[in-house]
Amino acid sequence: MSVETTLILFKPDAVEKNLVGEVLGRYQAEGFIIRGMKMMMLTPELLAEHYAHITDRPFYPRLIQFMTSAPVIALALEGDNVITRVRDLLGATDSPTADEGTIRREFGINSMFNICHASDSVEAATVELKRFFREEEVFSFNSHDYLK
Ligand code: PPS
Repeated sequence: MSVETTLILFKPDAVEKNLVGEVLGRYQAEGFIIRGMKMMMLTPELLAEHYAHITDRPFYPRLIQFMTSAPVIALALEGDNVITRVRDLLGATDSPTADEGTIRREFGINSMFNICHASDSVEAATVELKRFFREEEVFSFNSHDYLK
């Protein structure tokens, strides 16, 4: 077991379809802890950094248009093996082919309208958390005993 923090983006489709609570509930039911959360409009410049590995793909302009079409909600989520477990809960990129019971299979439409981005490795999470959160926006705290 290793405690990790991952970067999740609720994409514009999740925000516009009022699915943030439903999906976040699934993450929280796993015992993952919210360390940071904020709503923001993304810029093409920030997305060019985030999607630097796919700028040559034919769908890139459409993806940027979509990701700047409405606010996203960025989440810093902590937990045991959270990186893999969140991606398992999400399912495959292409929503209709994702496994039964996954978030994308249930709520996604295709490879673009697929509800959330989630970091795919510890290295990516480290870079992506810094990209979307300032240091003071990710909180470290312990639960009080009286709340347990
Ligand atoms: S790949 O192999 O790079 O295409 O796949 P993947 O790493 O899973 O996808 C990277 C991000 O590109 C988005 N994507 C698409 N957007 C629009 N149209 C098409 N066809 C498409 N295919 C992939 C996908 O949602 C990924 O976004 P993030 O934000 O990483 O989830």
